[in-house]
Amino acid sequence: MQYDTIIIGAGAAGLFCAAHTGGRTLLIDHAKRPGEKIRISGGGRCNFTNMYCEPNNFLGENRHFHKSALSRYTQWDWVAKMDQAGIAWHEKMLGQLFCDEKATQIVDLLVKDAKSAGTEIWLGCGVQSVDHGPDGFSVDTDQGKVQARNLVIATGGKSIPKMGATGFAYDIARQFGHEVTETRPALVPFTFPDGRFAALSGLSLPVRIWNAQASFEEALLFTHRGLSGPAILQISSYWREGESVTIDLTGGQDLFSALRDQRQKEGRRNLTTELGRLLPAKLIDFLAPELGLSGNLADQSDARLREICDALANWSVTPSGSEGYRTAEVTLGGIATSGLDSKTMMSKHQTGLYFIGECVDVTGWLGGFNFQWAWASAHAAGKAI
Ligand code: FDA
Repeated sequence: MQYDTIIIGAGAAGLFCAAHTGGRTLLIDHAKRPGEKIRISGGGRCNFTNMYCEPNNFLGENRHFHKSALSRYTQWDWVAKMDQAGIAWHEKMLGQLFCDEKATQIVDLLVKDAKSAGTEIWLGCGVQSVDHGPDGFSVDTDQGKVQARNLVIATGGKSIPKMGATGFAYDIARQFGHEVTETRPALVPFTFPDGRFAALSGLSLPVRIWNAQASFEEALLFTHRGLSGPAILQISSYWREGESVTIDLTGGQDLFSALRDQRQKEGRRNLTTELGRLLPAKLIDFLAPELGLSGNLADQSDARLREICDALANWSVTPSGSEGYRTAEVTLGGIATSGLDSKTMMSKHQTGLYFIGECVDVTGWLGGFNFQWAWASAHAAGKAI
């Protein structure tokens, strides 16, 4: 069967691209349902974009590559699309936009638009091989051989294999002479040996977290396995095995002044108890041995109070690892952008071959940036085709 365009991967990028390609388009996915990651994202409400989306919210070997697509299809373009479709949304925090009702409204909209544009959708259909010859691309699928002038690879990254994530895009990229940068799980919780923080599991507090590369102010969450929450997910994209991260647990409070004033008024009060009034008591009890907390406020010199407050503002931890692709929201790295045209997402090695979405070496922060990249890169390719 002959098509103008075949898109492999009916996720965020593939579905959105299919609405723009024109001509006869076939969209193939091995999953039984399209847009599964959209459906589960944002706790079922999909954090579909971010009001403050800017190029520096993205990682990748080339810090400029993503600018073109993102500037030609912005967060406001996507918001206008939601408004036009009558899908209600709200800002949760930090410019993160979510559906008021459910993420499946977005999946339904994408499927409807793709179908209105004449796209045929084959679900539950595996792809065995891809070739290119004088007549264009030939794709061997569970439902037979299909051919097209254009082939768009939108099969995402490796995160959450249980949901059908594969390294397919990277294999196709290599087949056509593309380089693939190192891929690793990102936006992922950290693990620590021997359930170190199990006693604090469920505790969440606002922190600043940083390493030599980046700094974020978000919530930290203690879990049975280690550390999670937005602060950890964000810094995980900038972390490598063996490295430490530093966390300011004070939430920006001037603990030193508070303790010193209290010492003046109520010197007989217990230091650990007083700290436990300023920060979660459970956390202070847990850290008491590490910080060597003992005695009353009156027993502490200014220098000692300063030392304790500095330790809480510069708590350094070295994760033993991350939860890996099993729970990572995205894959960091991917198809090297040096082999792609930033305006069209077309391969520089093979005319008519396009790579869009998460499989490309462009990774967003937590907060709706990864979907915005999926929309923008899909739009760039769809319009170019
Ligand atoms: P996506 O992964 O969406 O789609 C790829 C498609 O290709 C899938 O349908 C898959 O079945 C198919 N496929 C894979 N291999 C194939 C093969 N060999 N043959 C055929 N089909 C194949 N981002 C964000 O901005 N806001 C958010 O709220 C969230 N929340 C979130 C929660 C969770 C739990 C996860 C795992 C991820 C997020 N993300 C997110 C990230 C976001 O989901 C992700 O960046 C986009 O879905 C990427 O879109 P793509 O279309 O590139 O890949």
